[in-house]
Amino acid sequence: MAGNETAGGAAALPATAREPGASRAAAATPPARVPAHVAVIMDGNGRWATGRGWPRLVGHRRGAERVKEVVTAAPDLGIRWLTLYAFSTENWKRSVEEVIGLMRLFSRYIEREADRLSEEGVRMRFIGDRGPLESRLRRLMDGIEARTAGNTRLNLTVAINYGGRDEILRAAQALVAAAASGEIAPGAADEAAFAARLDTAGLPDPDLVIRTSGETRISNFLLWQSAYAEYEFTPTLWPDFTPAELAAIVARYGQRERRFGAVAV
Ligand code: IPE
Ligand code: IPE
Ligand code: MG
Repeated sequence: MAGNETAGGAAALPATAREPGASRAAAATPPARVPAHVAVIMDGNGRWATGRGWPRLVGHRRGAERVKEVVTAAPDLGIRWLTLYAFSTENWKRSVEEVIGLMRLFSRYIEREADRLSEEGVRMRFIGDRGPLESRLRRLMDGIEARTAGNTRLNLTVAINYGGRDEILRAAQALVAAAASGEIAPGAADEAAFAARLDTAGLPDPDLVIRTSGETRISNFLLWQSAYAEYEFTPTLWPDFTPAELAAIVARYGQRERRFGAVAV
């Protein structure tokens, strides 16, 4: 499946696993190098603002500024897919004021960044259930996806009303429907058939998942896709996150050895 595209993939296996005849000297495990797909749980906007005595929405606005910087910096670091968690299926539990403010921020980001994203060669996509979103926001999302569909420098995916369990359930329902209609034989429902029905169909699995703000949980993010991701948790609140910290995290990732269940030589 698409996960084969990840940078770590076969390149992270011991050389002997790929080339049975390779010499002992060549068997040293190459570092995983640059993570092709980085996914970020952008957390800590609220604490950043309330710690200063400001409304939570000020933190979200500052967070959106950080998104712009990271989107610009990512391709220069060699990152080709960047996935950002912006609003979870659980975030509807927040105050109406905060939810409406966030939705407005998403619309404004798309409107104001459309030209720059196009110029920088960014292909923008969204994952999550769009059904409950306002029609104006949905139109903006559809529009920017269509406008940037031909771009290849960076694949930016933003998760809005996204939940890993919700996505898996919707994919399971689609698979059941496909089996019921005879489109696929029930026995043919393998990993690839399932992954093709996830919102992330066509995207590689994340190599590295970063969460800011010091929380060490995944909060329903990319549950299926992160099966073999590497994780980094930083205490930095998202509005304080910089391209320099991203570069440092990417460098640390390069020292990791990804085994995917195999045994290092
Ligand atoms: C992350 O920051 C952004 C969203 C979930 C929309 P938070 O708003 O969760 O900030 P904290 O965790 O309350 O500080
Ligand atoms: C996860 O952050 C969702 C996003 C970053 C969009 P939350 O702040 O909602 O997660 P919890 O509630 O701390 O687990
Ligand atoms: Mg939070």
